[in-house]
Amino acid sequence: MNSFVIVQDIFRLTCYISCMGNQFDKPAHAADDWTIDQRWSDYTADEHKVWDTLYERLMQVLPGRAAPEFLNGLTALKLDRGGIPNFEEMSDELEALTGWRVVAVPGLVPDDVFFDHLANCRFPAGNFIRKPDQLDYIQEPDVFHDVFGHVPMLTDPVFANYMKAYGEGGLRSLRHASLKNLAALYWYTVEFGLIKTDQGLRIYGAGIVSSPAESVFSLEDESPNRIGFELERLMRTDYRIDDFQQTYFVIDSYDQLFRSTVDTDFAPLYADMHGKFDHKPEDILPSDTLLHRGTQAYADRGGRFAA
Ligand SMILES: [Fe+2]
Repeated sequence: MNSFVIVQDIFRLTCYISCMGNQFDKPAHAADDWTIDQRWSDYTADEHKVWDTLYERLMQVLPGRAAPEFLNGLTALKLDRGGIPNFEEMSDELEALTGWRVVAVPGLVPDDVFFDHLANCRFPAGNFIRKPDQLDYIQEPDVFHDVFGHVPMLTDPVFANYMKAYGEGGLRSLRHASLKNLAALYWYTVEFGLIKTDQGLRIYGAGIVSSPAESVFSLEDESPNRIGFELERLMRTDYRIDDFQQTYFVIDSYDQLFRSTVDTDFAPLYADMHGKFDHKPEDILPSDTLLHRGTQAYADRGGRFAA
């Protein structure tokens, strides 16, 4: 099974990276903050069934692999009741827990709009869902990736604070030419992060929990490195946008993630990084806290492009 779910996010994040300074044309039906009506009542029975199929597939692999906070979030938001969630109803539940809401957007939005939503505790989610013949591949993040992958973790107060801090930091970063380095932070944590627990490593990254194959690969395969989280090292590290990651960074706690973000003065880092990466995705540094030295066998044989 390929990691096509990863590909969904490539388009949004690479666009955040490559389109800095560019402006998209806001669709006429979108509000000034680019939000649109979810039009929940317009979803067809077949579209709700796509959600249920994807949900059931993931739940065959995530118990025992996903972080408890993610699994608890699914339950707390009643995402297990079947069908595409109604954003308004889900947001009422989420807001009561952490103050966050989910707003519908028409796919890609400009950087400043994305960061502003996060800074104001609004998670922007696409409202469309992939077709039944696109279960493993779609070009833009859809409602399943955005809601199933991201929203459960927003029920955790500390992780939710991290996302808000990330948005605030993103708004400040627009003055610097280092969006690429800030995107690496999002990529290696929000999308592809692992966390230590008393029961072993668990997944909290949305890009992983959206992919049955990468959920197994990230935790159990010999190929990728697993390295302790260190903010500056991570922001200097390039990443794979077209395949499973070659390195996963592991946090000790969500508090470590939050504190390292709010306690860091990013301006001198940006000045030093110049929007460039110093480390390749597979690099291991002498200063790393190495949890697993990857064989890189998967990448070496060509990854998902292998014959
Ligand atoms: Fe995502």
